[in-house]
Amino acid sequence: MSNIKEELIQEIAPDVARIDQAMRDDLEVTTLGYDPLLMEVLHYGIFNGGKRLRPLLVLLAARLAGSVEKGKTEEELLQLAIAFEYLHGATLYHDDVIDQADLRRGKPSVVKQFGEIAAILGGDFLHSRSMYIIGSVAGSKALDIFCKATNAMVDGEFLQLRNARNYNLSESDYFAAVRGKTALLIAATCEIGAIAGGASDAGRQALTAYGLALGTAFQVVDDLLDYQGDAAITGKAVGNDFKEGKMTLPVILALHNAGEQESVRLLSLLRDTASEGEGFEEAYALIEKYDGFSASRKKAESIVREALSGLDMFTDEDALTLRTVLQTLAEYVLIRKK
Ligand code: IPE
Ligand code: IPE
Ligand code: MG
Ligand code: MG
Repeated sequence: MSNIKEELIQEIAPDVARIDQAMRDDLEVTTLGYDPLLMEVLHYGIFNGGKRLRPLLVLLAARLAGSVEKGKTEEELLQLAIAFEYLHGATLYHDDVIDQADLRRGKPSVVKQFGEIAAILGGDFLHSRSMYIIGSVAGSKALDIFCKATNAMVDGEFLQLRNARNYNLSESDYFAAVRGKTALLIAATCEIGAIAGGASDAGRQALTAYGLALGTAFQVVDDLLDYQGDAAITGKAVGNDFKEGKMTLPVILALHNAGEQESVRLLSLLRDTASEGEGFEEAYALIEKYDGFSASRKKAESIVREALSGLDMFTDEDALTLRTVLQTLAEYVLIRKK
């Protein structure tokens, strides 16, 4: 298993370095003469060990779509890629305000370090810059996809808020929120990458479907890591979803199996957001007892299988390595600890 990770890291390391350099160059120019605190907030929140999944997907999808004549230049692709990391960064700045999260990427979150005003405004800057880049490099069609994904993310966060007050949450309610808040944006990285790479309609659809499934599995695993992860590796606090009273998949699936008494107990532990996560261990044991974790993992596995199946259409010999990278990336999502 750990081989998967090493192979993948070797394969993507040059792109990760290029993505980081492109963001540094871009920020240097766009924030020239701007307030030093703004610059500090941007550098602090962006150059701190993010996995760069979204910009990587833009590059990989574009290459797999791969028609050099019809596609964008490497430089333009890199710009599109960083736009997605900026948007992602913006959502994390704001998400940590919303979720009251103190730790992000192994350091105090932007809101913890600089306060709410800086976190909100820094996120606004990144959001606006990301839209400018997409519009100017890829035009209104791409901007439409990008903005629709962003709107869906906001809507997904509202749905999550509503879900937190729903004692009888179904799996499909959960997946609707995941689709909005995480999966559609990851699908958009692949779709815009595919368009920028000059994909055929079928290629574009296949890559978008891959992104949607990958993004869904990614959030399911994120929600598992919120219970089972090691904060020293994830860089985020464990138990934050519980503390916030979020109805995530492990809880929903455990509630399917638990009897009435223990269901009521689990829900009351989760609802007691005033106790600052005190009931975490008891809730963890109940979720474990009723297979919430293992059943969630199985779901993630089957969603990843779905993500992989769509890549079959890329049969060119040239596409083989790239297809393998995307396959490995999907497998990595399942075993990731970070
Ligand atoms: C965190 O995303 C937010 C989710 C949608 C789960 P990542 O896990 O990709 O965060 P970084 O960029 O690597 O820190
Ligand atoms: C991701 O969900 C929401 C976003 C759209 C950023 P989480 O709230 O689970 O993400 P983390 O765990 O804080 O990274
Ligand atoms: Mg959060
Ligand atoms: Mg999370």
